[in-house]
Amino acid sequence: MNIGVLISGRGTNLEAIIKAVKEGKIKANISIVISNKADARGLKIAEKYGIRGIFINPDGFSSREDFDRAVANLLEKNNVDLVILAGYMRILSDCFIDKFEGRLLNIHPSLIPAFQGLKPQKRAVEYGVMFSGCTVHFVTKELDNGPVIIQAVVPVLPDDTEESLSERILKYEHRIYPQAIKWYVDGRIKLDGRKVFVEKAVYGTVPVNPELEDF
Ligand code: GAR
Repeated sequence: MNIGVLISGRGTNLEAIIKAVKEGKIKANISIVISNKADARGLKIAEKYGIRGIFINPDGFSSREDFDRAVANLLEKNNVDLVILAGYMRILSDCFIDKFEGRLLNIHPSLIPAFQGLKPQKRAVEYGVMFSGCTVHFVTKELDNGPVIIQAVVPVLPDDTEESLSERILKYEHRIYPQAIKWYVDGRIKLDGRKVFVEKAVYGTVPVNPELEDF
């Protein structure tokens, strides 16, 4: 299976996924990393591991659809079967989602449907919730609202800042995202409407449900 990863920034989730592939835990090949930002640190990470990283400049396109078509064409040229959004900070157009729905995953740093959209960690701190976390989900046309594969919960502490909460959540992002991708690649994820079932996974565990197996 060929994986394509879309990024916009620092690329720590990308690196966790690359490591899981290199260690043989995810039996797939990362064929391309695409960034919409020229200075994304994630592009350097791809380079470090010998993976092709490409910057596509959104300024060169007259519409979101045209840009997304160029991204989709590049993914298809690289025979990508599974598209991973890893800190990709652009809203995808419907034509892109139509093409990849069911094989398009995202990670979001909140327990969706709470705090969908921008700055979820800051909003969780400001709202005063006692728990937040992260979610890996299928991407649909509703922003940050597709079927949930796995979630991890973390406490929010009285003196938390956006940064401290983000850091606590990120540690789990680096575990649940490779795990969800491994399950996908191993063909264990079944989708039934909004509901996801991971075959043979252990459900009912805290702080991660279903339970982590390999990460
Ligand atoms: C991660 O926290 C990811 O969950 C978030 O951006 C960060 C990217 O970090 N994604 C979103 O907010 C998408 N809605 P990274 O570039 O180090 O992986």
